[in-house]
Amino acid sequence: MADADHRLLSYLLVHTKANHTHPAQPSLPDEGHRLRVLFEITNVLVSKLSWDELLPAISVVLARVIPHDGAAITVLDKNTGRLRLHALHVPDNVWFDLEPQTHAPDDLPSGQALASGEPVVTTAARFGLYPVEVSRQLMDRGVKAICSIPLITANGAIGTLELGRRSRADFGAEEIEFAVQVARQIAIALENSLAFQELAEIKEKLRIEKLYLEDDIRFEQNLGNMVGQSPAFQALLESVRIVAPTDATVLIQGETGTGKELVARAIHEGSPRRERSFVKVNCAAIPATLLESELFGHEKGAFTGALTQKIGRFELADRGTLFLDEVGEIPLELQPKLLRAIQEQEFERLGSNRTIRVNVRIVAATNRDLKAMMEEGRFRSDLYYRLNVFPIRVPPLRERKQDIPLLVRYFTQKYAQRLGRRIDSIPAGVMEALTHYSWPGNIRELQNLIERSVILSRGRVLEVTAPDAPRLGARQLAAFGQDAEREQILRALRQSGGVVGGPRGAAALLGLKRTTLQSRMKKLGIRREYR
Ligand SMILES: Nc1ncnc2c1ncn2[C@@H]1O[C@H](COP(=O)(O)OP(=O)(O)OP(=O)(O)O)[C@@H](O)[C@H]1O
Ligand SMILES: [Mg+2]
Repeated sequence: MADADHRLLSYLLVHTKANHTHPAQPSLPDEGHRLRVLFEITNVLVSKLSWDELLPAISVVLARVIPHDGAAITVLDKNTGRLRLHALHVPDNVWFDLEPQTHAPDDLPSGQALASGEPVVTTAARFGLYPVEVSRQLMDRGVKAICSIPLITANGAIGTLELGRRSRADFGAEEIEFAVQVARQIAIALENSLAFQELAEIKEKLRIEKLYLEDDIRFEQNLGNMVGQSPAFQALLESVRIVAPTDATVLIQGETGTGKELVARAIHEGSPRRERSFVKVNCAAIPATLLESELFGHEKGAFTGALTQKIGRFELADRGTLFLDEVGEIPLELQPKLLRAIQEQEFERLGSNRTIRVNVRIVAATNRDLKAMMEEGRFRSDLYYRLNVFPIRVPPLRERKQDIPLLVRYFTQKYAQRLGRRIDSIPAGVMEALTHYSWPGNIRELQNLIERSVILSRGRVLEVTAPDAPRLGARQLAAFGQDAEREQILRALRQSGGVVGGPRGAAALLGLKRTTLQSRMKKLGIRREYR
């Protein structure tokens, strides 16, 4: 310690002693001893430990001057005005069983210390005035007095140091004065570490937001492009328009590939939150064991493998929209925590007891029958009802066949443009077959098929190649009646110059597998050498 510091400390101690002499109190250890203790505490504070390690170290040293049985640090959250327990040290670990939560300052003795800027001693007789769980715990554990010392920095009080004592129902004036000296050191260290933590969080958030942003930019080209004119699709858009500007939770249900994610993004884009992040969590893609920390984040060392601190998606989505994709895959045991986060808008990171408050709009999607899952006990009913505030059903493509030609043209243009190609005609027969197909993979299947076809088409005519031909084959073609089918096949064969297989063959033109076409031809009595 520098000489100047040493002199200052001595001065403070002497000064303190001169001002407050309470002969009735048990006298403190001599000045030299106190100075050593203060010096040791300063040393502990400049070590790079976490607060969970720092506080016990401080408490043990401090106990040589001020006997106490437990210590805690509370921190005032600037944003919410609430107090949270930052660190707690209880020697035998038998004292507290605290729910991690924040408190209104008035609910704790600490609030009074914060407001007045003066130390406050609260005896057991007054614990009952504070109707919080922690008071009950203190009484149960035989704590006779609590001393709350404000942690004051140049920016005002940032929290309190709390000392609890079971041996006596008071704290002497000299003890309190000494605690004030210690609190001054702690306040500086705490302020620095909070500023550091805040910076680290902002940095991490920016980093992740940037990744999302890149994602969003890629997506941007797609957004205004929800194609569809069918009444079913128009009704869907109408629901989106109604619910988007509100903060209501939306549950989007629909088969795979129907456009649920597109709907979720449209809701975000149509809301006042559009300037903020749209954060997606795919609950099916993340292993169940990691999902919790993905959603809520974790502190360094929260579990094996948690090497660094991680900010969860809930935090990232603060003031934006959180899209819970495949919400039906959320493990049952995680559902209560998710429910609380959605309902109360607060949660803790794994390995932390600091409550984080957020303002997040939830949009969830699933292709499962959540109601049935709930009835079978595989999805919690409370969570189901919490999510199902505004349900939106995205109809499968087979219920809006009118949209198919539109979508085929749209995707053809899109992929042709992307590949720098020109395709200006889509054979009517091809369009018809596509329209009659049942599309179990919905728009995604259609989109993939068209992309593949555009790549493989060599002229200006879209040549549909369908590896899924058995499904597209006989049944759809039969729908036109045998004559129409024969007609179509003959037309294709003429176009291909009689070639059945290969990329320019009749099968490809019809979007059929070669073997399928051959068997159809056989059945209809069309011979290859028809020319
Ligand atoms: N109305 C639409 N117009 C144009 N493209 C669409 C439309 N609906 C969906 N798409 C496209 O179809 C693909 C599938 O959509 P999306 O990923 O939103 O479906 P999903 O319902 O989330 O599927 P899954 O259940 O498999 O996750 C996307 O590439 C999307 O851009
Ligand atoms: Mg999806």
